[in-house]
Amino acid sequence: MTDDFEVVSTDLAHMARLALLERSTDVRLFAARLVRKYRKTHPEIASELEKYLRVRPERGFSPLRDSTATAPAGTAETTSSPQDSDSRLSLLRTEDRSGAVTEPILAPALREMIDQLLKERSSAERLASRGLVPAGSAIFVGPPGVGKTLTARWIASQLGLPLLVLDLAAVMSSYLGRSGTNLRSAFDHARRVPCVLLLDEIDAIAKRRSDESDVGELKRLVTVIMQEVDEWPSTGLLLAATNHRELIDPALWRRFDLILEFPLPGPEEIQSAIERFAGRDGHEFGPLMPVLTSVLAGISLSDVERAIHRIRRGLALGRQLPADLVEDLMRETARPADRRSRIELAIRLSELGAISQHRVSELTGVSRDTLRKYQRDGGPEKPRDER
Ligand SMILES: Nc1ncnc2c1ncn2[C@@H]1O[C@H](COP(=O)(O)OP(=O)(O)OP(=O)(O)O)[C@@H](O)[C@H]1O
Ligand SMILES: [Mg+2]
Repeated sequence: MTDDFEVVSTDLAHMARLALLERSTDVRLFAARLVRKYRKTHPEIASELEKYLRVRPERGFSPLRDSTATAPAGTAETTSSPQDSDSRLSLLRTEDRSGAVTEPILAPALREMIDQLLKERSSAERLASRGLVPAGSAIFVGPPGVGKTLTARWIASQLGLPLLVLDLAAVMSSYLGRSGTNLRSAFDHARRVPCVLLLDEIDAIAKRRSDESDVGELKRLVTVIMQEVDEWPSTGLLLAATNHRELIDPALWRRFDLILEFPLPGPEEIQSAIERFAGRDGHEFGPLMPVLTSVLAGISLSDVERAIHRIRRGLALGRQLPADLVEDLMRETARPADRRSRIELAIRLSELGAISQHRVSELTGVSRDTLRKYQRDGGPEKPRDER
């Protein structure tokens, strides 16, 4: 206990000295060191300090490039984030690490690849003994709302590292001539900090190509990214995410150690997501599981989340499951394109017993005759054999 007090008082005296000398950069560096030092032994102080560190200093604080130029390796997390000198927009955003990150629900094959990515990092020595290094970069590709950004966040939290997100819109915000410099300063900053760097929506650069006059500059920007990916140290982890594989320069694509495909969720993922998003209303959703998994097939988990939350709000306001709320939902989600799925959905809806056959037929586009036929012939499995 006495030892503990001594350590804290030495730190306090040192901090006061730096503050009184108005060495603000050193104060931040020292505060960040204390966060790491106290995280295990005094988590409250650590998180309090961390909160203060996130507050942007008011005018007059030296911008990143001045301060990181002298910062020793491993301490740059304490420097302010690089900004575009015109717009003063931050080029990098450090994601809040205080809350726990929920684990993404992923298809098993994808999950396995991510587990290996994490394992490689914790087994770097084992790999080194065979002359190998852990994968240092990965690009996530998939439709919107399937959990790419969430997974990046989760990976960072699993590794105990901050997630720095490169804001490409800010990088390109001022006149394009400065984008390359902006990009390099953002990478310089990220390289100095133990972190996961996320280039989210990396296709933003490619999308700008529509304007002919920008083409040359944008090409140079892609070249800068390529060089930066090449120079990225394997001690850090560089992630990129995109919805548009076709917009990414193949030469850039090739530079990532891993390409991870994020598909739309399958029935199992949808079911786990409904269970998760239903939260404390889980008991209300139980009997509806088959019908909801059918209704919500083919959409992203982000949309599933929105739908389930809306139903829950409806329930809280006294609306009734299943009839009104399922109907509501169906008005929004696309009717399944193939006949087999439509029939399956119709059977499940009519099994709920709360919606009339006539209404089920209207909602699904399956005639009542067809529906009756399949029900007579033995339930939802039957249509699978069709066609
Ligand atoms: N696989 C998933 N597991 C759990 N929740 C998910 C998943 N996918 C999406 N969500 C929910 O939807 C939200 C949005 O997902 P996220 O931002 O990660 O999607 P994205 O793939 O990055 O989309 P975009 O391409 O539009 O950026 C998440 O915060 C989460 O609440
Ligand atoms: Mg995203």
